Amino acid sequence: QISEAEVALFSVSSYACQRRTTLDNHNSNLTDALSLLAENAELSNEDGRGVAFRRAAALLKALPTQVISMSQLRGLPCLGEHSLRVIKDVLENGVSSEVESTKQSKRYKALKILTGIFGVGAKTADRWIREGIYNLEQLRDSGQTLNRAQKAGLEHYDDLNEPVTKAEADAIGEIVQKAVNSVLPGSEVALTGGFRRGKLTGHDVDFLITHPEEGKEVGLMPKVVAWLESQGFLLYQKTTRNSYLESKDGPARPASNMDRFERCFSIFKLTKRKEQESTQPEEQNDLKTEDVLRPHMQADTDQQLCELSKNYQMEAASHKIWRAVRVDLVVSPISQFAFAVLGWTGSKLFERELRRWAGHEKNMSLSSHALFDNTQNKYLRATSEEEIFAYLGLEYIPPSERNA
Ligand code: GTP
Ligand code: MN
Ligand code: MN
Repeated sequence: QISEAEVALFSVSSYACQRRTTLDNHNSNLTDALSLLAENAELSNEDGRGVAFRRAAALLKALPTQVISMSQLRGLPCLGEHSLRVIKDVLENGVSSEVESTKQSKRYKALKILTGIFGVGAKTADRWIREGIYNLEQLRDSGQTLNRAQKAGLEHYDDLNEPVTKAEADAIGEIVQKAVNSVLPGSEVALTGGFRRGKLTGHDVDFLITHPEEGKEVGLMPKVVAWLESQGFLLYQKTTRNSYLESKDGPARPASNMDRFERCFSIFKLTKRKEQESTQPEEQNDLKTEDVLRPHMQADTDQQLCELSKNYQMEAASHKIWRAVRVDLVVSPISQFAFAVLGWTGSKLFERELRRWAGHEKNMSLSSHALFDNTQNKYLRATSEEEIFAYLGLEYIPPSERNA
């Protein structure tokens, strides 16, 4: 046993946005347990409990070393009774009994499987479970009516549950850049979300698009989407238009944390590059990639076309030459760009904490559009994330240290 004197005590700020949280997590045994309970709470519509577990996990992620004894945690913020009980269990027994029983519960397993379908949230999954649907097979057999998003989600289930790599994110970035440049030269594309924070994989790829001349970005999204569609890059897309200026509660105050940018939820069809293909043995036949990708261009007769199309399908089935990837596109006017970049870089908890800090400590309202000072009754303009942190009286935290 280690004596009290040898155990270093940590001192940590209570808001996640005051801390530097890199991807180098020394307490993943503890944070994995707490994150699973957070996820389970969120999936069960217990948001309060979810946030409490997320805050506790985030605090542990920010610690400089591994926690080995409960006494090291004395006086630390963000650790409620329940979280402490889970931590104690893991420290003493290697696992948390609550986490283990949650993981094995029929309900949790079903929630994971069903919400793993793009377009299915906790509410829908819960309804299905109450109707006796616990897996994809039962869902298919049930004859449930699925919306367009859910149909696409089910169709590309395996691909969309396979983590996206940085290489794939970069490949998609090139496509988006090309699309944007084709429809409005001079536009800029910024990678946001987890990849901007330095994550090596993600559940999707997030981009923010703007143009240096205010107003030029209006109507950009439909054009970008049309270009992508015409080139065959989209398996699914749903665009929602900007409603910031015309909404009832804006622009005076960003009321909710849902933003009102022109936004596109999409599923890209990403052709695998040679180096991204898994270590498959070389092809046995002489079929070239070009033939596979554009069978119609090589065919002079119907019979040839049929032959090539058959080859194409065999090829596609034997080792898939493309995969589905979730991509989020957002268009922001340049005047709001700094706020949009900050708001879309995450992590989700870091963002939540920034807004809580702004409201509770500074009497300000922060959104992905603007920062409003309630005391001075005015908007605070910013052209960089650094300026926003300064307004908020926070030390600047770079994206790679926002992994709370
Ligand atoms: P992975 O995609 O799982 O790798 O992590 P991520 O951090 O990129 O998560 P995600 O793509 O879900 O979100 C990226 C950032 O966008 C997070 O900071 C979210 O808070 C933010 N975000 C997602 N949806 C919305 C939204 O509707 N409005 C606003 N303002 N922000 C959002
Ligand atoms: Mn993301
Ligand atoms: Mn996203």
